[in-house]
Amino acid sequence: MTAHKANQTRLTGKTTDELLDELTLEEQVSILAGDGLWSVNPIERLGIGSLRVTDGPSGARGSGGLVGGVTAAAFPVGIAIGATWDPELAMEIDAAIAAEVKSKGAHVSLAPTVNIHRSVTNGRNFECYSEDPELTAALGVGYIKGLQDNGVSATVKHFVGNESEIERTTISSEIDERSLREVYLRPFEDAVKKAGAWAVMTSYNRLNGTYTSEHDWLLNDVLRGDWGFDGVVMSDWFGSHSTAPTINAGLELEMPGPTRDRGEKLLAAVETGEVSRQTVRERAANVLKLMERDGSLNDQRPFEEHADDRPEHRALIRKAGAAGCVLLKNDGLLPLSQPSGKIAVIGPNAKVARIMGGGSAQIFPHYSISPWDGLAARLGEEALLYAAGCTNHRWEPLFHGEITAEFFDNKRFEGTPVHVKRMEASEGFWVPPVAEGKVDQRRFSVLIRSDFVAEVDGIHRFGIHSAGFSKILVDGELVADAHSAWTKGRTYFEEGCDEVVGEKVLEAGRSYEVVIEFVSKDMKLLYGGAFRAGIGVPMGDAGIAEAARAATEAETAIVFIGRSEQWDTEGSDLQDITLPGKQDELVAAVLAANPRTIVVLQTGGPVEMPWVDDAPAILQAWYPGQEAGNAIADVLFGDTDPSGRLPQTFSRRWQDNPTWSQDREVYPGLDSKVRYQEGVFVGYRHYEAMGIAPLFPFGHGLSYTQFDMGGLEASVDETGVTVSFSLTNIGDREGSAVAQLYVGQRQPRLRRPVRELKGFAKLTLKPRESRQVQKRLTHRDFAYFDVAKRSWVVDPGSYVLSLGSSAASISVEVEINLMAYSEPA
Ligand code: BGC
Repeated sequence: MTAHKANQTRLTGKTTDELLDELTLEEQVSILAGDGLWSVNPIERLGIGSLRVTDGPSGARGSGGLVGGVTAAAFPVGIAIGATWDPELAMEIDAAIAAEVKSKGAHVSLAPTVNIHRSVTNGRNFECYSEDPELTAALGVGYIKGLQDNGVSATVKHFVGNESEIERTTISSEIDERSLREVYLRPFEDAVKKAGAWAVMTSYNRLNGTYTSEHDWLLNDVLRGDWGFDGVVMSDWFGSHSTAPTINAGLELEMPGPTRDRGEKLLAAVETGEVSRQTVRERAANVLKLMERDGSLNDQRPFEEHADDRPEHRALIRKAGAAGCVLLKNDGLLPLSQPSGKIAVIGPNAKVARIMGGGSAQIFPHYSISPWDGLAARLGEEALLYAAGCTNHRWEPLFHGEITAEFFDNKRFEGTPVHVKRMEASEGFWVPPVAEGKVDQRRFSVLIRSDFVAEVDGIHRFGIHSAGFSKILVDGELVADAHSAWTKGRTYFEEGCDEVVGEKVLEAGRSYEVVIEFVSKDMKLLYGGAFRAGIGVPMGDAGIAEAARAATEAETAIVFIGRSEQWDTEGSDLQDITLPGKQDELVAAVLAANPRTIVVLQTGGPVEMPWVDDAPAILQAWYPGQEAGNAIADVLFGDTDPSGRLPQTFSRRWQDNPTWSQDREVYPGLDSKVRYQEGVFVGYRHYEAMGIAPLFPFGHGLSYTQFDMGGLEASVDETGVTVSFSLTNIGDREGSAVAQLYVGQRQPRLRRPVRELKGFAKLTLKPRESRQVQKRLTHRDFAYFDVAKRSWVVDPGSYVLSLGSSAASISVEVEINLMAYSEPA
């Protein structure tokens, strides 16, 4: 690093203050908002570059839309990283993501997502790490360091209270201060204090009535005041709604651009005195500081993005994907050895690589490996049988082939198309410049034409949903109409309608002309437009019978079931946690046909498992990134010990979850409010307090070997407690254990959780190897937040330290006595 005076930028050696002195008020204002979807205005006069951002969090998408574009490396999603319980691995992943961000010409990653798994149905749980603030905070810190140590800024999001996607842009999360401080703010606090995060993104929602993007207490008092944050706060995309309130509350950047509430409006507010020149200067100074930190200040390179498919990233993704796999149950069937008979590879997720969730976290991967591909690479296709069994889609399957899109610079398909494009599949996501800038992004229409040859006789389902108006015509006949009947649904960030499906009987072998008419519409959260169309053939029960037959013929059956990015997605919550379609029936049928059946689940959270008692082995693999199939095969065959542990409790039924209530205000919200009634009793804290036995507890996960945890000792001193214990691999294979340290107060004065995670250690041990582990706990680890005193308070008395392999399986406990202690917020 070049040595330079404190506060001095690398740009011509000027200090930020000197640079600010040279900026006119207009120029200062111009860097307080985006100039496009993913960038901030440069100031060419002074050689100040443009700050560029990219989503996040499972890779770096770059400036394209959600579909197509420059390819990127797809890393495991948040919950899969959560399941690794490995902050060092998170750091390693993010060092690689930093390189990806640079390959997309960007300086800032819009990640990590550190919201908490409050409801099991939250569409974005896949993107967040855990239901537990300690685990979330530790992984978030690893993630941020990995990026920032490599010169790329993190943007910790979404600050705060964005635990559901329902009405997310208007709802008010009603959260009491103690729960905020102990649970929801905690990962952000560590991001600032322990990782020195350079940027924070506010959430879409309001917090106790006020939009977080203009929340003075949240941004000025807590973030900057209590925690000492010195970076940039940016709005979520289109999530800032005012001029003076946002800038006065501490929001540096209105994103994206072009500006809606700043620019001229901000200059006028300075004129009237609503916003002081000093405030503008301070906010602009923070933007320059970020640009200095991430190198964008003097980045004069022409904007360029490219695909950088590195072998070392492939290897890291495979390792990380396997490290997040959680072995939920194993009666001894796993690990598999070289089979002598066939393996039946069954299920709707068998031949499709489920590698990521949906929404802004989506990227266009370099490639993706399905479970079938992974097993075939290892055993050869001739060793495998296949049956899909049933479907699990939310939307009818995309079709491919010769598809062309003709763009018109009006909403009526009039005149000659101004742009014609080949499409890979029957979906489009158009962000500015739409059609290479040849149409007005607010007023255009598109005709998408294709021929479809039916493979079977019978009813075909045609589905379409769009952010914009759309229709499907088959041989000129209107089959699905998402135009005249368009109503706001749960797709495309709440800007799209729900899928509209029409049916038509087709003849096998005949070719049909399929035309999709798309017309743009006004939107709040998206520029441009998007649609997705699909054609499906209902499967009936024949698929399940065929799958059962394949299982009977095989030595072992592996059923790949779960969900996909259509379900686990930004912009919509799940309606329940049952497996979509006929997957439960499929599992039951395969289990009945062959007792040597392994269930591999891929979801972004828990599902109900009515067949759990009959299944000898269940592996949860989440969405592990582009190497999905290889990572899963590594675990199934024991090349890698399943070292993942649940970052979220798997309850038996959705009804057991703390957000399940007759009272809609508790979830999903009523009259624009969602009340976090359970307080600090989130996740396992709730199940413990209510005496509800979960299906699989928080922290649970089996290894192929066994461990012994013991020798727990604790010694109290003036600044905290030193805890030590031993961990021994008592089996005959190498394996990884996650020792979990929980803290509870014997007789709390106020209602507190029975136990709360305050430390953990992941260790890989050889057979018979034993290791001593030391953990340091501070006063804060025993404290609750006292709102009246605005302090973290430890009441004097007796506390229990519990060491175990999950929140529900504690191996050993010790009791300690603590004196009274308190520290300010
Ligand atoms: C999401 C953010 C994301 C942003 C930009 C929003 O819809 O909530 O997480 O970074 O879009 O894509």
